[in-house]
Amino acid sequence: MKRMMITMSLMAVAAFFAAPVAANAGQHADSLGNIDRGRVIYQYGKGDDVPACQGCHAPDGLGSDDVGSPRLAYQVDSYILKQLHDFASGKRTDDTMYQMNDISAALSEQDMKDVATYVHTLKTPYIGSNLDQLRRDGADVGDPAKGKIIAEFGAPDHGVPACQSCHGFHGRSAGRMYPAIGGQNYVYLKHELESLRNGHRAFGAKTLTKAQIEDKEDNERTNDYMGQMRAVAGKLTDEDIANLAAFLTLAKPTTPGNPRSPSRQ
Ligand code: HEC
Ligand code: HEC
Repeated sequence: MKRMMITMSLMAVAAFFAAPVAANAGQHADSLGNIDRGRVIYQYGKGDDVPACQGCHAPDGLGSDDVGSPRLAYQVDSYILKQLHDFASGKRTDDTMYQMNDISAALSEQDMKDVATYVHTLKTPYIGSNLDQLRRDGADVGDPAKGKIIAEFGAPDHGVPACQSCHGFHGRSAGRMYPAIGGQNYVYLKHELESLRNGHRAFGAKTLTKAQIEDKEDNERTNDYMGQMRAVAGKLTDEDIANLAAFLTLAKPTTPGNPRSPSRQ
């Protein structure tokens, strides 16, 4: 009860600050969700079943290599929403902290939209993982220069397409279904590429039936639409994965040409 009152008063404060900005303040341009409601969930959680997202994804939305959580700041809102749906239905498994499935299942559709809209608006500058620190901690860190070549041109000798053909220059996202992967955390990138590759080894690029979803191992990620990403990950060597993750975590969304960041889409 006390928690509820705190939450309610925070919502009131949020509404107060939002009100003078513009008539539609708090409402995203796409009317996807309400930023102020999303912020409350992100910072304080909801009821007994939803802890504050920032506990693992950090107040600025940067995520953490220690936790193995992804950066959510600037991520495409429709992509965040899809992942929350997939965690809630069990199509994707959180095999890092084993929390995202229960958390997502406890969110309403509106909660998901609100929190997806909120994280999408976080404008934390790109930093990327501290590769030197990770190396000192004993992580297997790849070579960013080699990763850059695969991201931009692919590795035709073993059938890997250029990542930027779907994910955009420096992985900044090229549309609503393609996540931003530039500036993402090293540990998370490596883990997802390995899980997608495992998913491809087990199931190929097919969309899974309900029975197959129940059958899959935790470290097999198979929720990508039409197996698009599994088909790519299936071709990657361990070295490619380490090199790509090292390049992508440091990649900045700047370029001559289209200067839009994903959050402006
Ligand atoms: C206990 C820690 C923890 C909490 C609390 C938590 N997360 Fe997560 N989240 C994770 C981890 C770890 C992953 C990566 C899971 C994996 O793929 O193995 C993740 C993944 C995600 C992803 C997938 C992102 C992507 O790029 O695909 C989204 C979206 C997400 N979390 C949103 C949320 C939201 C919204 C909340 C609050 C309602 C939340 N998380 C609370 C740890 C947490
Ligand atoms: C044919 C298009 C395509 C290509 C080429 C492609 N991807 Fe993807 N990738 C996707 C799609 C679609 C998703 C979203 C999957 C989902 O909906 O869950 C994705 C997801 C990902 C994710 C998970 C991101 C997250 O936050 O959870 C990573 C990491 C990734 N791709 C890395 C790469 C890398 C590295 C390359 C180049 C070697 C690459 N992708 C090439 C389509 C592609």
